[in-house]
Amino acid sequence: MSTETLAAVATDPSDLSRRLSAAEQQLVQSERLASIGQLAAGVAHEINNPVGYIFSNIGTLERYLGDLFRMLAAYEAAEPLLAGTPSAAELASLREEIELDYLKDDIPSLMAETAEGVKRVRKIVQDLKDFSRVDQRQDWEWADLHHGLDSTLNIVNNEIKYKADVRREYGRLPEVQCLASELNQVFMNLLVNAAHAITAPRGTIIVRTCTEGEGDAARVWVEVEDDGCGIAPESLKRIFDPFFTTKPVGKGTGLGLSLAYGILRKHDGAIDVRSTPGQGSCFRVTLPVRHRGVAGEAS
Ligand SMILES: Nc1ncnc2c1ncn2[C@@H]1O[C@H](COP(=O)(O)OP(=O)(O)OP(=O)(O)O)[C@@H](O)[C@H]1O
Ligand SMILES: [Mg+2]
Repeated sequence: MSTETLAAVATDPSDLSRRLSAAEQQLVQSERLASIGQLAAGVAHEINNPVGYIFSNIGTLERYLGDLFRMLAAYEAAEPLLAGTPSAAELASLREEIELDYLKDDIPSLMAETAEGVKRVRKIVQDLKDFSRVDQRQDWEWADLHHGLDSTLNIVNNEIKYKADVRREYGRLPEVQCLASELNQVFMNLLVNAAHAITAPRGTIIVRTCTEGEGDAARVWVEVEDDGCGIAPESLKRIFDPFFTTKPVGKGTGLGLSLAYGILRKHDGAIDVRSTPGQGSCFRVTLPVRHRGVAGEAS
C-alpha cells in the first residue's frame, strides 16, 4: 500500500468506521462460533453417557434374545408331546394371536436397526466432540487432518448429501501442528460453500490432500473442489472480504472465507482459489507441517 493510500485510509472516517465495524463483526462471528462449539460439546457430553449404556444394553439384549429364541425352539420341538391336550390348543391360539412367526423374523431386524441407529448417534456425538474440541485447551497441537476432515464431513453431511457426492482423494499426510478446531471451521465453510455452489441436480465435491517438501519445509495442502456455478472474475477479487456474499439474505453473511483467511494467516498458511464460471471452483488450503511462531512450543 502506498503512503497516499495509507493516509487516505487513515483520514477517511467513513472508511475507518467501516473497517472497525467489520473487525467487530468478525469478532462477534468468531465468538458466536466458539459458543456454538461450546454448546455442541456440552450437548455431546450429556448425550454421550445415555447413548453409551443404550449401546451396551442393546448388545446384551441381543445376546439374551438369542438365548430366548433357542429356548423357544426347544419348547416348539417338544410341542408334539402335548398333542390332543388343552395346553396344545391354547398354545396354538396364542401363537396365532401374537403372530409368533412374524415376531421371530422381525425382532432380529428391529434389533439390528436399533443398534445401527445408536451407532450413528454415537458417531455424531464423537464428531461433535472432535469438531469443537472444547473439552481440550485451544492450543497448538499435532493433529491428523484426515480425521478433522472426516468429522467435519459428517457434521455437514446434511447440507451436502442431497446435492452432491463427496469423493475423498486423500494422500499421505503427517500430523500437522495446528489449531485443529479452527481448521475444522475452515473445512466446514469450504464444504458448505461447495454444496451451495452446486446448481445441477447433483454435483461432485472432491476433497484432496497431499504433502509437499520434507523436514522443516514440509507443507500439506487440502483442496475442496466442486463442479458448481464457479465464481465470476469480478467476484473472485472480493470473496475473502468480510461481508462479501452473493447469497440471499439469511443464507450467507459473507464471513466464512474471511474467517478462513484469518485462521490460515495465524497458521502461516494460505488459501488459494481457482475457478471457472459455469464449471466449478477449487479452494486450496496450504499449511506448514510444523508451526513456527509460538515460543517454547512444539517439539
Ligand atoms: N465454492 C464456491 N463456488 C462458488 N462461489 C463461491 C464458492 N465459495 C465461495 N463462493 C463465493 O464467495 C462468497 C463468499 O463466501 P463466504 O464463505 O465468505 O460467505 P458466504 O458463504 O456467502 O456466507 P457465510 O459463509 O458467512 O455463511 C460467496 O457468497 C460466493 O459468492
Ligand atoms: Mg460460506
